[in-house]
Amino acid sequence: MSFKDIFNEDCLFTNKAHARVNLIGEHTDYTGGYVMPCLLNFNTIIQISKNKNKVYQVYSENFKEKKDFNDFIKSKNNDWIDYVKGCLFVFYDENKHIHNTHLNIFITSTIPIGRGISSSSALCVAILKVLNNCFGTQYSDKHIAILAQKVERNYIGVSGGIMDQMVSSIGINNKAFYLDCLSLKYELLDLPSDWVFCLVDSAVQRNLRDSSYNERYSQLKRAEEYLNVEYLGSVKPSQFDQSKINDELILKRARHVITENDRVLRAKEAILNKDIKLFGNLMSNSHKSYAEDFEASTKDVDEIVERSLSSGAEGARLTGGGFGGFTVSLIHSDNYQEWKKNMDNFYDSKNIFEV
Ligand code: GLA
Repeated sequence: MSFKDIFNEDCLFTNKAHARVNLIGEHTDYTGGYVMPCLLNFNTIIQISKNKNKVYQVYSENFKEKKDFNDFIKSKNNDWIDYVKGCLFVFYDENKHIHNTHLNIFITSTIPIGRGISSSSALCVAILKVLNNCFGTQYSDKHIAILAQKVERNYIGVSGGIMDQMVSSIGINNKAFYLDCLSLKYELLDLPSDWVFCLVDSAVQRNLRDSSYNERYSQLKRAEEYLNVEYLGSVKPSQFDQSKINDELILKRARHVITENDRVLRAKEAILNKDIKLFGNLMSNSHKSYAEDFEASTKDVDEIVERSLSSGAEGARLTGGGFGGFTVSLIHSDNYQEWKKNMDNFYDSKNIFEV
């Protein structure tokens, strides 16, 4: 189906946004720390036109569903349309004068949903970018990212950070996006040409709203209270006084974030020095910390990570919000054929994607 098939006219504006894989730095963004995602080829495309029938009409090519509505009341349906309504709600809230301009919206996407590669942020960024074009609001890509985060936080109800929206709005394919989540300063780093990053899908569906994401968020906020700091991201491993946290669970969660931030800083150096061994070790240590201290991994995911390492990867880890989804592995290009051959013994080729 095309825009014209559904709405019987041509679209006025088109925009798109990509999914991302986070190479390292998990649950560090909302603690004012560091992350290093990278864009993927999977993307979401939004087409739009103004609607004369005084109704919002939205068609999703993936779900083969058309939904019409007139209000933006927060729905608890846990449905894709929530994100569209959320974007309109946030956009109109900033632009009261264009409130109630009815629209036709066509969505098509190649991004697997609920696999930790940020399908929802790409959807929000793409919608907000097309609204920005349609209404000439001239928002910067950074502002688009901030609005997209508002959709997740204020409308959907996930206490997420800013990583996904920033990279989806500003990132460039084949470059690592190193981001300081407090200042929102970023650097686009070249990936060494003999490094191959590969995703393996654990096929475990996750949903940030249902998962323990918000619970982890609250635990880290409690850790900040124990340590009497505004942001856990400001605490260096050498300054971490573990005796200040007399709750074993909170201590483990804080230890993950504090060591993870340090790993991101070292990973940046490793990329700049083209040190694949160091980067790989940091990824694997990140996974260990994510699995043991943050308890955000699953058995299936741990098995993929182990198999990937024994198949010749330099490092491997679960990527994204946790509790299932994709793993990311780093492989030297000389070993890639061998790694792929080994992994093909365990996993269907359609679940393995080169970044
Ligand atoms: C999700 C959130 C991000 C980040 C990651 C975990 O993708 O949207 O803000 O917190 O989880 O690193």
